[in-house]
Amino acid sequence: MNKTLVIGASGQIGTELTLALRQQFGGEAIIAADLKREADLLKGTGPFLPLDIMDKEILRVQVRRHEVKTIYLLVAMLSAAGEKNPMLAWHLNMQSLINTLEVAREEGVEKVFWPSSIAVFGMDAPKENCPQDAYAAPSTVYGISKLSGEQWCHYYFYRYGVDVRSIRYPGLISYKTLPGGGTTDYAIEIFHSAIRGETYNCFLRADKRLPMMYMDDAVRATIELMEAPESKISVRTSYNLAGISFTPAEIAREIKALVPGFKIEYEPDFRQAIADSWPESIDDRVAREDWGWKPSFNLKNMTEEMLHHISPGLAVSTRR
Ligand SMILES: NC(=O)c1ccc[n+]([C@@H]2O[C@H](COP(=O)([O-])OP(=O)(O)OC[C@H]3O[C@@H](n4cnc5c(N)ncnc54)[C@H](O)[C@@H]3O)[C@@H](O)[C@H]2O)c1
Repeated sequence: MNKTLVIGASGQIGTELTLALRQQFGGEAIIAADLKREADLLKGTGPFLPLDIMDKEILRVQVRRHEVKTIYLLVAMLSAAGEKNPMLAWHLNMQSLINTLEVAREEGVEKVFWPSSIAVFGMDAPKENCPQDAYAAPSTVYGISKLSGEQWCHYYFYRYGVDVRSIRYPGLISYKTLPGGGTTDYAIEIFHSAIRGETYNCFLRADKRLPMMYMDDAVRATIELMEAPESKISVRTSYNLAGISFTPAEIAREIKALVPGFKIEYEPDFRQAIADSWPESIDDRVAREDWGWKPSFNLKNMTEEMLHHISPGLAVSTRR
């Protein structure tokens, strides 16, 4: 059986991606691994390994022992958390990728997925419909690590033939798991506040438009990219991917239509400057043309799904 290793499987994307892969390929074929404990949602659905990706030799042992043929690497310190500890973010984000690429090269792992981010674009990139090959000069350590990571992926493909594939995720919105310290976390927190009947104190301005995507679309895109024939993959840095672009005021209006008493206040903090450096919308034509990407969620049906799925018992307080 071809085994797949998902590293960072207890995180926001890792949990949902692992569940989706297990549904498609069977529980035993997908090994979840993380430094922190197994996510509750993963329990009983397949194998779990405690793993520190910073230890390359342990990674090698596990890849050999389980005859791993595909790795999804989802470990990173995200944008807002990274600005609080830039050197740690650089170290974790880079070394986790290099360890994975090296073990993949040395042990004959057939495919690697590693996500980049819209954070690779900085102030000088076009704000609207930011193209695949736009000038990228990121303003955060997170963006710098993603841009460098993209170049390493490109290098390992052309130099060593490691079939590494990547997507520049926009902000991801999910109800099953909580966000891990990014600048787009507000778009999840807002639903938790609405369901708890709390006023949401938004850390971005009302009119700050950012590219976002519902988790189901992001997970589907990831699996579709990884399952696409190699001949269809023309981008070996990372693919632009678009879902929905909206502002805090627009999502608040959509929530109010379903939760009439919902209130929002705005108190921008340091994350406003990070958001200001990013594009407002993304041109993902190349992903659409190469491997047939097409999003299925818009602001309206995503809002309905989120409100439907977060029960009052699950909603957490987002008061600061
Ligand atoms: N969430 C988003 O909106 C978003 C947007 C763009 C890109 N991305 C990228 O997607 C990937 C996953 O993001 P996420 O939001 O799920 O992050 P997350 O913080 O929720 O999850 C990361 C996981 O990695 C684990 N981890 C940390 N250090 C580790 C180590 N040394 N060894 C093993 N595991 C370790 C953590 O315990 C955590 O479970 C990251 O590369 C991130 O940059 C995320």
